[in-house]
Amino acid sequence: MIETNRLGVSYRGQPALTDLSVTIGGGFTAVIGPSGAGKSTLMRALNGLIPAGSGQVLFQGTPLGRPGSALLRIQQRRMGMVFQGFNLVRRLSALENVLLGRLAATSPWRSLSGWLPHGERELALHLLDRVGLADHAWQRADQLSGGQQQRVGIARALAQQPQVILADEPISALDPKSAAEVMAILHGIQAQDGLAVIANLHSLETVRRYAGRVIALRAGQLVFDDVPQRLTDNVARELYGQDALPGESQEPGGNQELPPNVHFASA
Ligand SMILES: Nc1ncnc2c1ncn2[C@@H]1O[C@H](COP(=O)(O)OP(=O)(O)OP(=O)(O)O)[C@@H](O)[C@H]1O
Ligand SMILES: [Mg+2]
Repeated sequence: MIETNRLGVSYRGQPALTDLSVTIGGGFTAVIGPSGAGKSTLMRALNGLIPAGSGQVLFQGTPLGRPGSALLRIQQRRMGMVFQGFNLVRRLSALENVLLGRLAATSPWRSLSGWLPHGERELALHLLDRVGLADHAWQRADQLSGGQQQRVGIARALAQQPQVILADEPISALDPKSAAEVMAILHGIQAQDGLAVIANLHSLETVRRYAGRVIALRAGQLVFDDVPQRLTDNVARELYGQDALPGESQEPGGNQELPPNVHFASA
């Protein structure tokens, strides 16, 4: 569904992703790795927000269009984005924020205050209901809790009727209870609608609980790609280096303890 083919991205000559080849189909895929590993860069590159410096990204078998192209806009509509900071329009209601996702999916020039085709508002209300916010549809976004705002963000992404949801640290700004609610919703979407969900996550506990597949980056390279059951503490320690698992022993994990099909780039 989304595929990178020897993808490279640099910022002012500094590589952030190097020679990354990965194919992500359906299911729930977690992207992990230490700070600066390139997780957000990968999300932005998958969505075409930053162009590939080398190699390519393919969506449904078609290379992403050039920046500003009609093709890329069409492809981006099929990829719903969920952000760490929610990115809602604060003074608009929950419903209007979801309708913005709808506009992105239909006619970008149509104004919110103007005419809405029959069914648009109903669809937006239905999506708010799905994320448990039917009773908050007319509440201003900035009067919702963080967890509620993120649920609006998910409903807005769904309003685009995407095939993939890309979520960059969707729960990092949330308290544990709200985080669990948001994860349950993302997981439910993936399981019920058959959407692919790709999420950058920091908590290994969350990864182990919700993900069907884990991809780890380190220094811009793919260093682990497997089921979460193989993401043992030793593997995690290797991945994150010395700072990884605070409070745990810093003894080297030892490669002999790794599952046989795990290979790390030499650090
Ligand atoms: N806009 C930018 N300009 C210059 N360098 C950047 C920019 N964005 C990211 N980088 C650099 O690219 C590398 C990868 O950054 P990225 O944000 O993708 O990492 P990350 O894995 O998402 O980290 P974190 O867990 O802290 O969010 C880092 O070295 C970072 O400093
Ligand atoms: Mg990041």
